[in-house]
Amino acid sequence: MIKIAPSILAANFAKLGEEVKEVEAAGAALIHIDVMDGHFVPNISFGAIALEAIRPLSTLPMDVHLMIENPDQYIEQFAKAGADYITVHVEACKHLHRTIQLIRSFGVKPGVVLNPHTPIESIQHVLEDIDMVLFMTVNPGFGGQQFISSVIPKVAALSAIIKERNLNIEIEIDGGINAETIVPCAQAGATIFVAGSAIYNQEDRAKALQTIKQAGEQ
Ligand code: DX5
Ligand code: ZN
Repeated sequence: MIKIAPSILAANFAKLGEEVKEVEAAGAALIHIDVMDGHFVPNISFGAIALEAIRPLSTLPMDVHLMIENPDQYIEQFAKAGADYITVHVEACKHLHRTIQLIRSFGVKPGVVLNPHTPIESIQHVLEDIDMVLFMTVNPGFGGQQFISSVIPKVAALSAIIKERNLNIEIEIDGGINAETIVPCAQAGATIFVAGSAIYNQEDRAKALQTIKQAGEQ
């Protein structure tokens, strides 16, 4: 089963509510919320108030991707604003295990994000504690960048470990996903796909979403 998580980073913020409802009606499985602080990544997006505003407008799970320094300081805010998943970058966490426990303490599903260069060995000792691994297939900070295909072997390797250890972890891919790049990622075992520009920059968002999803299901 392929799940598409449109990233509202690429949406029109002047009508964010409608933008969320449109992709929900089109068959989105989650809403991806890209939070950037201008420190961990060279760009600023929005904080928990944006999530709070859209939470009542959709029944879909809210997938919060924190691209921020000191994530521990903001986890409670995002949990209370209605996050269903909170993913943190392993590169931003000094005490990753503690951060994961903190997310879970608010009843939110924890996940860990790996930048394109970060090896999967960095998370092998927390795999029992998380619900999701998010692989970045661009350097985080901006939408509309080109997919980095050298990440695919990492996805396949983690997928094999998940099967071998019989773990219950979703693999999500984020960055440069379209109807072409989804194919090798789905073959490598990923099940959730973030898509920003490939959905929101298209005239017919429903058609774009379904085309990407069907390509992943082949
Ligand atoms: C990048 C963000 C992505 C981004 C995806 O830092 O984490 O979620 O919005 O955008 P596209 O799909 O356009 O690469
Ligand atoms: Zn993201």
